[in-house]
Amino acid sequence: MRKTIVAGNWKMNASKESVNSLINGILSGMSDVSSDVIVCAPFPYLSQVEALIINSDLMLGAQNLNVNSKGAFTGEVSAEMIKDFGAQHVLVGHSERRSLYGETSTIVAEKTKAAVDAGLTPILCVGESFEERESGNTEAVVEEQLNAVVGLLGIEAFNGIIVAYEPVWAIGTGLTATPEQAQSVHLFIRNLLAGSSESIAQNTPILYGGSMNAGNAADLISCSDIDGGLIGGAALKAEDFLQICKAG
Ligand code: PGA
Repeated sequence: MRKTIVAGNWKMNASKESVNSLINGILSGMSDVSSDVIVCAPFPYLSQVEALIINSDLMLGAQNLNVNSKGAFTGEVSAEMIKDFGAQHVLVGHSERRSLYGETSTIVAEKTKAAVDAGLTPILCVGESFEERESGNTEAVVEEQLNAVVGLLGIEAFNGIIVAYEPVWAIGTGLTATPEQAQSVHLFIRNLLAGSSESIAQNTPILYGGSMNAGNAADLISCSDIDGGLIGGAALKAEDFLQICKAG
């Protein structure tokens, strides 16, 4: 039985003040939540979140990492540094990284490997653009993105990987995939993993992301292959985020 996981992706939205009130708001409602809950904070706020969530069930993640463990890489942050602040998770392959920062599937696979090697759990994001869906290429796109990681790391690595299916056309747009559309791609992903290992496929959490909110979360998460959500906009308000956490 896979546990429901809800992860918040704050993107580049935070201040010391907003982080305090958001985390304290989430913590105040956590006693009613049975899902695993992760917040993925911008790098400068990892330390602040680490201190606030101490002795709680809330887990911390980062939003990006460099593939190297240390050295002359000005402005970059390594998996070890992320771990140093108590984070257990890191987003890799988010569509904004792929489209705005040129992260190819090869780079995403290398980042996934750097995270796994350091003992972090990557949340590996995959998903098609509007044009790719319209032209019937959704499965081919998701397959290419996943295969890059399976090819580099091997299927066994998925024992420590969370997958997030995020159709690019649904991210930040208010357009959510219907539960049927999402379930169909989630099943495709699970079957793809099952081609290498049935048991790993059954145990791999596959989250949905893309305009998930307090109103649509329960319908999506109730689908048999949707194991939770990766939440952007609705993760910035404690009340909305908590409602999604309780939907699982
Ligand atoms: P959204 O973002 O919930 O605002 O659509 C999701 C994401 O980008 O992870």
